[in-house]
Amino acid sequence: MPTEIRRLTAHDAEPYYALRMRTLSENPETFLITPDEEAGLDETRARLARTEPRDDDVIFGAWDGSTLIGTAGMFRQTPNRVRGRHRAMIWGMYVTPETRGHGTGRRLLDAAIHAARNAEGIELIHLGVVPENKPARRLYRNAGFEPWGIETKSSKIEGRYVDTEMMVLFL
Ligand SMILES: CC(C)(COP(=O)(O)OP(=O)(O)OC[C@H]1O[C@@H](n2cnc3c(N)ncnc32)[C@H](O)[C@@H]1OP(=O)(O)O)[C@@H](O)C(=O)NCCC(=O)NCCS
Repeated sequence: MPTEIRRLTAHDAEPYYALRMRTLSENPETFLITPDEEAGLDETRARLARTEPRDDDVIFGAWDGSTLIGTAGMFRQTPNRVRGRHRAMIWGMYVTPETRGHGTGRRLLDAAIHAARNAEGIELIHLGVVPENKPARRLYRNAGFEPWGIETKSSKIEGRYVDTEMMVLFL
Protein backbone atom coordinates (compact mmCIF):
# COMPACT_ATOMS: atom_id res chain seq x y z
CA MET A 1 0.00 0.00 0.00
CA PRO A 2 1.50 3.39 -0.96
CA THR A 3 2.35 5.74 1.90
CA GLU A 4 -0.26 8.46 2.32
CA ILE A 5 0.71 11.93 3.52
CA ARG A 6 -2.08 13.87 5.18
CA ARG A 7 -2.62 16.56 7.74
CA LEU A 8 -3.20 15.31 11.30
CA THR A 9 -6.34 16.22 13.24
CA ALA A 10 -7.46 15.71 16.84
CA HIS A 11 -8.69 12.23 15.80
CA ASP A 12 -5.05 11.22 15.23
CA ALA A 13 -3.96 12.17 18.75
CA GLU A 14 -3.26 8.64 20.01
CA PRO A 15 -0.97 7.38 17.22
CA TYR A 16 0.66 10.80 17.00
CA TYR A 17 1.36 10.89 20.73
CA ALA A 18 2.81 7.36 20.65
CA LEU A 19 5.05 8.21 17.69
CA ARG A 20 6.13 11.47 19.28
CA MET A 21 7.22 9.61 22.42
CA ARG A 22 9.20 7.21 20.26
CA THR A 23 10.75 10.10 18.31
CA LEU A 24 11.90 11.89 21.46
CA SER A 25 13.25 8.82 23.23
CA GLU A 26 15.14 7.47 20.20
CA ASN A 27 16.79 10.76 19.22
CA PRO A 28 18.02 12.66 22.31
CA GLU A 29 20.64 14.54 20.28
CA THR A 30 18.22 15.64 17.59
CA PHE A 31 15.38 17.13 19.60
CA LEU A 32 15.67 19.67 22.41
CA ILE A 33 12.61 18.44 24.27
CA THR A 34 12.76 15.29 26.43
CA PRO A 35 9.89 12.73 26.52
CA ASP A 36 9.09 13.83 30.10
CA GLU A 37 8.69 17.44 28.98
CA GLU A 38 6.39 16.62 26.08
CA ALA A 39 2.68 17.36 26.42
CA GLY A 40 0.48 14.46 27.57
CA LEU A 41 -2.16 12.81 25.39
CA ASP A 42 -5.00 15.20 26.28
CA GLU A 43 -2.85 18.24 25.65
CA THR A 44 -1.65 16.72 22.39
CA ARG A 45 -5.25 16.21 21.29
CA ALA A 46 -6.09 19.82 22.22
CA ARG A 47 -3.01 21.07 20.36
CA LEU A 48 -4.04 19.18 17.22
CA ALA A 49 -7.58 20.56 17.55
CA ARG A 50 -6.22 24.11 17.80
CA THR A 51 -4.29 23.67 14.54
CA GLU A 52 -7.32 22.46 12.56
CA PRO A 53 -8.72 25.85 11.51
CA ARG A 54 -5.27 27.30 10.78
CA ASP A 55 -3.32 27.21 7.54
CA ASP A 56 -0.09 28.37 9.23
CA ASP A 57 0.16 25.73 11.97
CA VAL A 58 0.03 22.23 10.55
CA ILE A 59 1.34 18.78 11.37
CA PHE A 60 1.56 16.21 8.60
CA GLY A 61 1.58 12.47 9.11
CA ALA A 62 2.79 9.69 6.82
CA TRP A 63 0.56 6.63 6.96
CA ASP A 64 1.30 3.08 5.95
CA GLY A 65 -2.29 1.85 6.03
CA SER A 66 -3.45 2.65 9.55
CA THR A 67 0.10 2.93 10.94
CA LEU A 68 1.62 6.36 11.43
CA ILE A 69 5.26 6.11 10.26
CA GLY A 70 6.39 9.74 10.10
CA THR A 71 5.65 13.37 10.91
CA ALA A 72 6.61 16.94 9.98
CA GLY A 73 5.28 20.20 11.40
CA MET A 74 5.22 23.78 10.12
CA PHE A 75 4.13 26.88 12.02
CA ARG A 76 4.32 30.62 11.55
CA GLN A 77 6.81 32.17 13.95
CA THR A 78 5.53 35.12 16.00
CA PRO A 79 2.07 35.22 14.30
CA ASN A 80 1.07 38.23 16.43
CA ARG A 81 4.10 40.34 15.47
CA VAL A 82 3.53 42.28 12.30
CA ARG A 83 7.28 42.52 11.66
CA GLY A 84 8.00 38.82 12.14
CA ARG A 85 5.00 36.95 10.83
CA HIS A 86 6.58 36.29 7.40
CA ARG A 87 8.80 33.60 9.00
CA ALA A 88 7.86 29.95 9.47
CA MET A 89 9.60 27.05 11.17
CA ILE A 90 9.66 23.37 10.23
CA TRP A 91 9.95 21.02 13.21
CA GLY A 92 9.39 17.44 14.33
CA MET A 93 10.71 15.75 11.14
CA TYR A 94 10.73 12.05 11.85
CA VAL A 95 10.37 8.78 9.96
CA THR A 96 10.46 5.42 11.76
CA PRO A 97 13.88 3.71 11.33
CA GLU A 98 12.31 0.63 9.69
CA THR A 99 10.72 2.71 6.89
CA ARG A 100 13.52 5.19 6.14
CA GLY A 101 15.21 5.62 2.78
CA HIS A 102 12.03 5.32 0.68
CA GLY A 103 11.28 9.01 0.14
CA THR A 104 8.82 9.48 3.01
CA GLY A 105 10.95 12.16 4.70
CA ARG A 106 11.11 14.10 1.45
CA ARG A 107 7.35 13.84 0.91
CA LEU A 108 6.66 15.06 4.45
CA LEU A 109 9.11 17.93 4.01
CA ASP A 110 7.53 18.87 0.66
CA ALA A 111 4.07 18.87 2.28
CA ALA A 112 5.29 21.23 5.03
CA ILE A 113 6.96 23.55 2.47
CA HIS A 114 3.82 23.51 0.32
CA ALA A 115 1.71 24.48 3.34
CA ALA A 116 4.05 27.39 4.11
CA ARG A 117 3.80 28.59 0.48
CA ASN A 118 0.01 28.50 0.70
CA ALA A 119 -0.21 30.33 4.02
CA GLU A 120 -0.77 34.03 3.57
CA GLY A 121 2.39 36.13 3.87
CA ILE A 122 4.97 33.44 4.73
CA GLU A 123 8.21 34.23 2.88
CA LEU A 124 10.86 32.04 4.46
CA ILE A 125 11.22 28.85 6.49
CA HIS A 126 13.77 28.19 9.21
CA LEU A 127 14.85 24.90 10.68
CA GLY A 128 17.65 23.62 12.87
CA VAL A 129 19.64 20.42 12.46
CA VAL A 130 22.49 18.78 14.35
CA PRO A 131 25.54 19.11 12.05
CA GLU A 132 26.41 15.39 12.44
CA ASN A 133 22.92 14.36 11.23
CA LYS A 134 23.92 13.62 7.63
CA PRO A 135 20.60 12.12 6.39
CA ALA A 136 18.62 15.12 7.64
CA ARG A 137 21.15 17.67 6.34
CA ARG A 138 21.12 16.04 2.90
CA LEU A 139 17.35 15.93 2.90
CA TYR A 140 17.13 19.66 3.66
CA ARG A 141 19.91 20.64 1.23
CA ASN A 142 18.23 18.63 -1.55
CA ALA A 143 14.99 20.54 -0.87
CA GLY A 144 16.76 23.90 -1.22
CA PHE A 145 17.51 24.84 2.39
CA GLU A 146 20.79 26.69 2.90
CA PRO A 147 22.83 26.81 6.10
CA TRP A 148 23.28 30.29 7.57
CA GLY A 149 24.94 29.74 10.93
CA ILE A 150 25.68 27.53 13.89
CA GLU A 151 24.08 27.95 17.28
CA THR A 152 26.96 26.74 19.43
CA LYS A 153 26.12 24.60 22.47
CA SER A 154 22.41 24.81 21.73
CA SER A 155 21.65 21.79 23.89
CA LYS A 156 23.36 20.07 26.80
CA ILE A 157 22.89 16.34 27.19
CA GLU A 158 24.26 14.92 30.42
CA GLY A 159 27.09 17.44 30.47
CA ARG A 160 27.89 17.16 26.72
CA TYR A 161 27.09 20.06 24.41
CA VAL A 162 25.50 19.72 20.96
CA ASP A 163 25.42 22.45 18.31
CA THR A 164 22.57 23.27 15.93
CA GLU A 165 23.07 24.25 12.29
CA MET A 166 20.45 26.79 11.28
CA MET A 167 19.06 26.56 7.74
CA VAL A 168 16.69 28.71 5.74
CA LEU A 169 14.58 28.34 2.60
CA PHE A 170 13.40 31.57 0.93
CA LEU A 171 10.06 30.93 -0.77
C1 LIG B 1 15.88 12.59 8.42
C2 LIG B 1 14.76 11.59 8.16
C3 LIG B 1 13.42 12.23 8.49
C4 LIG B 1 14.79 11.20 6.66
O1 LIG B 1 13.66 10.35 6.42
P1 LIG B 1 13.66 9.32 5.16
O2 LIG B 1 12.26 8.86 4.96
O3 LIG B 1 14.69 8.28 5.33
O4 LIG B 1 14.10 10.31 4.01
P2 LIG B 1 14.02 10.05 2.44
O5 LIG B 1 13.95 8.57 2.16
O6 LIG B 1 12.94 10.91 1.89
O7 LIG B 1 15.41 10.57 1.96
C5 LIG B 1 15.53 11.92 1.65
C6 LIG B 1 16.97 12.26 1.49
O8 LIG B 1 17.59 12.12 2.77
C7 LIG B 1 18.92 11.73 2.57
N1 LIG B 1 19.12 10.46 3.24
C8 LIG B 1 18.18 9.58 3.64
N2 LIG B 1 18.76 8.55 4.29
C9 LIG B 1 20.08 8.81 4.27
C10 LIG B 1 21.22 8.13 4.80
N3 LIG B 1 21.09 6.99 5.49
N4 LIG B 1 22.44 8.69 4.63
C11 LIG B 1 22.58 9.87 3.97
N5 LIG B 1 21.54 10.56 3.45
C12 LIG B 1 20.31 10.04 3.59
C13 LIG B 1 19.11 11.62 1.09
O9 LIG B 1 19.54 12.86 0.62
C14 LIG B 1 17.75 11.34 0.58
O10 LIG B 1 17.51 11.72 -0.73
P3 LIG B 1 18.26 11.01 -1.98
O11 LIG B 1 18.25 9.52 -1.69
O12 LIG B 1 17.42 11.39 -3.14
O13 LIG B 1 19.64 11.62 -1.98
C15 LIG B 1 14.97 10.29 8.99
O14 LIG B 1 16.27 9.82 8.77
C16 LIG B 1 14.75 10.47 10.48
O15 LIG B 1 13.63 10.43 10.98
N6 LIG B 1 15.84 10.63 11.27
C17 LIG B 1 15.76 10.72 12.72
C18 LIG B 1 15.10 12.00 13.18
C19 LIG B 1 15.78 13.20 12.57
O16 LIG B 1 16.99 13.25 12.49
N7 LIG B 1 14.97 14.19 12.18
C20 LIG B 1 15.46 15.43 11.62
C21 LIG B 1 15.59 16.43 12.72
S1 LIG B 1 16.29 17.96 12.14
